[in-house]
Amino acid sequence: MKILVTGGTGYIGSHTCVELIKKGYDVVIFDNLFNSKIDVLDRIEKITGVRPQFYRADLRDEDSMRPVFEEHKFDAVIHFAGLKAVGESVEKPLLYYENNIAGSINLCKLMSEYGCKRLIFSSSATVYGDPAQIPITEECPKGQCTNPYGWTKSMLEQVFTDVQKADDEWSVVLLRYFNPIGAHESGLLGESPNGIPNNLMPYIMQVAVGKLPELGVFGDDYDTPDGTGVRDYIHVVDLARGHVNAVDKVTGSTGVNIYNLGTGNGYSVLDIVKAFEAANGIKIPYQIKPRRAGDIATCYADPSKAAKELGWKAELDLKKMCEDSWNFAKKSLT
Ligand code: NAD
Ligand code: UD1
Repeated sequence: MKILVTGGTGYIGSHTCVELIKKGYDVVIFDNLFNSKIDVLDRIEKITGVRPQFYRADLRDEDSMRPVFEEHKFDAVIHFAGLKAVGESVEKPLLYYENNIAGSINLCKLMSEYGCKRLIFSSSATVYGDPAQIPITEECPKGQCTNPYGWTKSMLEQVFTDVQKADDEWSVVLLRYFNPIGAHESGLLGESPNGIPNNLMPYIMQVAVGKLPELGVFGDDYDTPDGTGVRDYIHVVDLARGHVNAVDKVTGSTGVNIYNLGTGNGYSVLDIVKAFEAANGIKIPYQIKPRRAGDIATCYADPSKAAKELGWKAELDLKKMCEDSWNFAKKSLT
């Protein structure tokens, strides 16, 4: 089976390519390399022994994507490509709406034209806004997003749902990720954001390697066990495996199917700091700071629908997430 992976040189995409190749899928990647590097292909090859075919193409430029569809017949598309920096999306909303929404519409049109109507989309728990219930099930209503990035996910879910409604040959799987962290255990693949990171684990990595002096903990007065924000951190390799299971679903059914990909465990910011220190023997100095605008107190998944319908469950624990994050960071950040 041949799978197109958009954004396949990125953080989650590259790990997913490894898991797909391990299961015998034929993988083709396209990416514009805006937030990833071409040497990821060498790394995927080093891990799997297979080098996926790569196209440098941009979602916003139909002509750059057309050869990918001309030269291959895909059984499904896993669509990771997109911009994801929350703060930047507030400053540059049009860039986000153009890249993520207009770009994805271009992709959808080409998929339709070339007769590949099976799509797995990277959505986010951010579509729940301040969730109506914890743990969050897929029936939980979508909420108000606090930034344009979040709205692109929420709106694209609607776009793909409407496309499927208009043509029932389409099969769409919307995967709502919780908080991916960790890295491939080889230390060859991981996340290395540009500049000062916004997300918790990448920030902790910068403190651990000594590039930043301390972590700012955004608020200790939430209604949570230790007052700091609680999230559902999931190992990126578990998340990647979830996509492999979703391929069976998207190729074996029609309609729109939505799944939370999380562990079902909630950990606070201070839990993460302590787990990282214990796993790696490195002290992470921190200081309590004011709450960050747009943050919610608690967010974790009920992942039972994915277990039942995809036969998928997260397996790697927080210790492993911390060890693998550090194993990658000390090789790539120092
Ligand atoms: P990433 O930035 O590492 O990967 C995205 C890839 O898409 C990059 O390689 C980038 O170069 C590429 N890309 C961006 N715009 C493109 C365009 N116009 N044309 C072609 N390629 C383009 O991000 P990631 O963490 O791997 O996230 C993958 C997907 O999952 C994204 O859609 C993201 O919004 C979504 N997501 C991520 C998280 C997270 O915490 N990392 C959480 C929820 C959802
Ligand atoms: C953020 C995004 C979300 C995106 C997700 C994954 C916001 C409001 N939400 O989620 O849209 O899908 O990343 O990319 O940005 N924290 C600190 N100090 C830090 C960084 C974070 O205390 O330096 C805390 C936060 O307050 C939060 C937790 O750590 O309680 C996790 O933060 P983060 O990693 O940014 O993820 P989310 O906010 O859950």
